[in-house]
Amino acid sequence: MSNENWFVGGEKGMKVAFIGSECYPFIKTGGLGDVMYALPRALLRQGCEVRVFMPYYRCIPEKFKNQMTYIGSFMMNLTQDGRTFYVGIMETELDGVTYDFIDNQEFFDWGNPYTGLWEDIPKYCYFSKASLAVLNYLNWIPNVIHCHDWQAAVVPVYLRTLFDGTPVGAARSILTIHNLRFQGICSIDHLKYWTGLPDYLFDYPVFKVSEAEANMFKGGLAYTDRITTVSETYAEEIQTDFYGENLNGHLWYHRAKLKGIVNGIDIDIWNSRTDKLLPAVYSEKDVLEAKRKNKKALQERLGLEVDEDKFVIGLISRLTDQKGLDLINAIFTQMIDDRIQVVILGTGDPRYEDAFRYYESAYPGQVCAYIKYDESLAHQIYAGSDALLVPSLFEPCGLTQLIAMRYGTIPIVRETGGLKDTVDPYNEYTGEGNGFTFDQYRAELLLDAIKRAEQVYVEDRASWDTLVTRDMEKDVSWEHSADLYLKLYEELKR
Ligand code: ADP
Ligand code: GLC
Repeated sequence: MSNENWFVGGEKGMKVAFIGSECYPFIKTGGLGDVMYALPRALLRQGCEVRVFMPYYRCIPEKFKNQMTYIGSFMMNLTQDGRTFYVGIMETELDGVTYDFIDNQEFFDWGNPYTGLWEDIPKYCYFSKASLAVLNYLNWIPNVIHCHDWQAAVVPVYLRTLFDGTPVGAARSILTIHNLRFQGICSIDHLKYWTGLPDYLFDYPVFKVSEAEANMFKGGLAYTDRITTVSETYAEEIQTDFYGENLNGHLWYHRAKLKGIVNGIDIDIWNSRTDKLLPAVYSEKDVLEAKRKNKKALQERLGLEVDEDKFVIGLISRLTDQKGLDLINAIFTQMIDDRIQVVILGTGDPRYEDAFRYYESAYPGQVCAYIKYDESLAHQIYAGSDALLVPSLFEPCGLTQLIAMRYGTIPIVRETGGLKDTVDPYNEYTGEGNGFTFDQYRAELLLDAIKRAEQVYVEDRASWDTLVTRDMEKDVSWEHSADLYLKLYEELKR
């Protein structure tokens, strides 16, 4: 038996708690929700026992709430002045993964998960402490507590301080950075009050970032046993000024415990062979014909001119600066010619929503700006488009390019973070690669990449079709990366 096999076999029984602010299918605003769903399932297949902790938000659909069981409740002290708060536990199970929802109406009855930092900071201090208290209450002591983004970043600090002498204190922690732009920064007094943590933590090595301000992510990064990011390139990038969001020095200091592990996608949900949301399902064998049908259905649904020869470019994205939308805006009119159609699905910054609405009205039948969050349309765009744009300013991993490839849709991406790690540039001489890429954050380079893609599509369809089939065959599943996480857990357990 190889070491590899011995290792995986030896991991049966590893207990892991995931703590994070969103998880598909209960609540998802972006890729964090996908990862909180897919990685636990992949770990389960490797023999781990996994529980996921998230808030019991009011906006979780009733159909899920109705399946939950009330497990118990207790009062927990939280703030500096010792105020106590109700902690309720609602539980459900999906395919072997247990989900524990922390219930407190005062914090989670606001509607959306994220409502503004002033409320979000108390909300996630409460959530972080309550998750550890619930682990003790349930007497379910994990080997590893895997925390996600700033909302769970104080967990490692609580673990090594207020919870150190309690049963859950035996666990080790990992903090994964999905997006460093959001850090949970507020006044030192505000964070001190809501965490109830001792004064000595509010100094520069832990929470403090300036005379007046504290940073939740920074404290967690200092206290956690391991830091991961969602791609290898992003792990390097965040140690630089440009990508470091003012924490590059701190991350460089802690680099010995920092590692990049690229995300995968759930290949059961994102499966063109079985996807019930598609007009025509397909494998790599019949992709070309099925894509024509899906494209036609998409054009009909969105009021675009029905023409199977149009080069349909999709964009599925939160509409924020991160996603490189100012580059798209800068070249939009140069990009559009009578062979191209553009489909945009996203919500976010009104500046971008308005710009895309404008292009829709300026190019009727050729551009559709669908300013909504819509899962089913997302599936149809992945399947019905020829190419997908992801020209991000920074991209810790990015899932849309992975989904696109799995659906035989060719990504056009900027070479940053996970985009760089997952999309090999197409080489027109050798035919190798997975997509069209550009390096510097410049609009003319994006335009050039789009035009190169269009040219191959229009003038060399055989090469394009080869690319489509190759991308569909690329392994974008979680299996390899789940194995890397498992190895990390094992290192910690030792
Ligand atoms: P981020 O987490 O930065 O938003 P990712 O690429 O990691 O970016 O993940 C985005 C996820 O959200 C993907 O699953 C994508 O399909 C989905 N998504 C983004 N915008 C929308 C939308 N408007 N409607 C439906 N799904 C969306
Ligand atoms: C973040 C990042 C995105 C990543 C996702 C899941 O939202 O912006 O790049 O794919 O988290 O890790």
